[in-house]
Amino acid sequence: MNAIEVVSVSRVYQKYSARHRFQTFKSALLKGDFFKSLRAEELVTALDDVTLRIPAGMTFGVIGENGSGKSTLLKVVAGIAKPSRGAVAVRGKVAALIELGAGFHPEISGRENVFINGIMLGLSKREISRKFEDIVRFAELEEFIDAPVKTYSSGMYMRLGFSIAINVNPDVLLIDEVLAVGDASFVPKCLDRIDDFRRRKKTILFVSHDLATVEKICDKVAWMKSGRVRALGEPKRTIDLYLQDVADKKEAEFSRRREEVDLEHIPAEEGRREARWGKREVEIRRVALRSLRGEPKHVFSPEEGMVIDIEVHARERVKDFVFGVGIFNSQGVSCYGTNTHLEEFRPRAIEGRGRVAFRIDRLGLVNGTYYLDVAVHRADGTPYDYHRNLYSFLVSSRHKDVGISRLPHRWRFSPSVKMLPPRKGR
Ligand SMILES: Nc1ncnc2c1ncn2[C@@H]1O[C@H](COP(=O)(O)OP(=O)(O)O)[C@@H](O)[C@H]1O
Ligand SMILES: [Mg+2]
Repeated sequence: MNAIEVVSVSRVYQKYSARHRFQTFKSALLKGDFFKSLRAEELVTALDDVTLRIPAGMTFGVIGENGSGKSTLLKVVAGIAKPSRGAVAVRGKVAALIELGAGFHPEISGRENVFINGIMLGLSKREISRKFEDIVRFAELEEFIDAPVKTYSSGMYMRLGFSIAINVNPDVLLIDEVLAVGDASFVPKCLDRIDDFRRRKKTILFVSHDLATVEKICDKVAWMKSGRVRALGEPKRTIDLYLQDVADKKEAEFSRRREEVDLEHIPAEEGRREARWGKREVEIRRVALRSLRGEPKHVFSPEEGMVIDIEVHARERVKDFVFGVGIFNSQGVSCYGTNTHLEEFRPRAIEGRGRVAFRIDRLGLVNGTYYLDVAVHRADGTPYDYHRNLYSFLVSSRHKDVGISRLPHRWRFSPSVKMLPPRKGR
């Protein structure tokens, strides 16, 4: 039996930017041909012919970049937004955590809001009274429950909303991103409750940018792009397809920006991060970043290797030369640097064209943008051609660790330290 059926659903909105056109133009609304009176470029198709059938008891993940239609999908399922076309059917009691604070009245207390919300979710006053303490305790809002909710932080809103939603014991739980504003200690509590829901065979529709959690808790995942379901199926596979798409897009943007470092025209402004200097007795003509297989590339995972491919040219025979590379993170911190002199290579001669490859077997860096120095100079440091931060690349990783380098590591705990391993899939 399906708990949620979304069949050929489309949802069109007027673009936010086109709103002003009708503020003085109520007539379009009144006549009811509102959408027809808008030009095509003023409309946005938030959902474009989406069909999903979600069996009861399934935890179903929805991923996709911002603006891909995830929230609209949940709103349509929750009945908060109407489809422009198509049909939606939901079986059972629905609780939706969609917009932070939606359904809360800012001026009145948390206590009164719990009652109003509970009633909207179909509970009687007596049922709410019975659950009230649990709701407040779970939300950790005992001290604040009589303050108006407009004084709450986003984290407090989220805690209260989540607590109400799970305590009304819905059959279908819709969760849109809200965990993102939860503090570090609260999110695991929520995930435990979600686990509990899963065990009790409730249906959950879960939207999140936290792909690790999606992979952990979902039975099936849909990837949305431009209002359409681009892929649907096994979580890891779907997430990987999405990540590949994100990487391809970043790669395209990066290479568009970075492909053409115009080596002839590097402005020498003060304070500029990028620069070039040296008399070019030995010149660096071109630098390309490649995968270990030789393809040009700018977006890497920490597990991948990289080749810095350097084309050089010496106008005349030079006997004293050193090649060097340096990698800096976006704060300008040196992550790694080395040169052929430090590594005790012994230069003999260079003349005319040449090629130098610096191969890194495994990058091992954390998420972020990195800048590259490439240089050729004398053993005493006198530069022939120094390229400061002219090249950049991105490390895109699913890991959340911080710092500079992802040190290979392992955790160990004595038996007295009760620690469970990461959930499946990690
Ligand atoms: N109420 C609205 N009015 C106008 N446009 C909207 C509205 N809600 C969503 N949109 C637009 O619909 C598209 C999908 O939005 P949304 O469903 O919020 O995506 P997501 O949750 O994946 O970020 C976006 O282009 C967004 O700007
Ligand atoms: Mg959204």
